[in-house]
Amino acid sequence: MPFTIAIDGPAAAGKGTIARALARHFGFAHLDTGLLYRAVGAIGGDPVAAARGLSPADLERDDLRSSEAGQAASRVAAIPEVRTALVEFQRRFARAEPGAVLDGRDIGTVICPEAEVKLYVTASDIVRARRRALELAADEALILAELRERDARDAARDVAPLRPATDAILLDTSDLSIEDALARAIDYAKAVGA
Ligand code: DC
Repeated sequence: MPFTIAIDGPAAAGKGTIARALARHFGFAHLDTGLLYRAVGAIGGDPVAAARGLSPADLERDDLRSSEAGQAASRVAAIPEVRTALVEFQRRFARAEPGAVLDGRDIGTVICPEAEVKLYVTASDIVRARRRALELAADEALILAELRERDARDAARDVAPLRPATDAILLDTSDLSIEDALARAIDYAKAVGA
């Protein structure tokens, strides 16, 4: 049976870094599910048609990392038919052998409710804005406003809102180095059999 690690949390909390490192550590496949929504937003036009026709090449666009792409992703992610169109791809990915790490907003709650490991990675919005501003060489105050707007929208939507699964382990990275956060995640995954 493949082993699944589900990582959820708000924007710029360190999910991606932790997910990639966990996948490398355990030799698992990794899917950044935010890229799916970013690609749907970037394609433009009818988002439902874009989600239904999404291809792997669409995830390779270089314009998916920007703040604008994040905001567009958050908007299309609130459309139920967009989410439905992306479920099967994610669930199929989660069955990769010997295991898979998926990071996003609804992995532990909707996509992989049976995941062996569920982590909810978070950090204060000030810390997250600082990290993202450094990464994008952008203005911290603008990034903070953008993160707050995106988190509020992601948490308030009717379908698959951002929230920890009831059985998720909370990992607050506000005061943790990436090494310490990762060490905790690895210890936990090992403890449950990864
Ligand atoms: O993780 P990210 O910042 O790349 O995600 C971009 C947006 O996509 C995020 O604001 C909400 C949406 N998203 C989602 O609704 N569900 C997911 N599993 C992943 C991302």
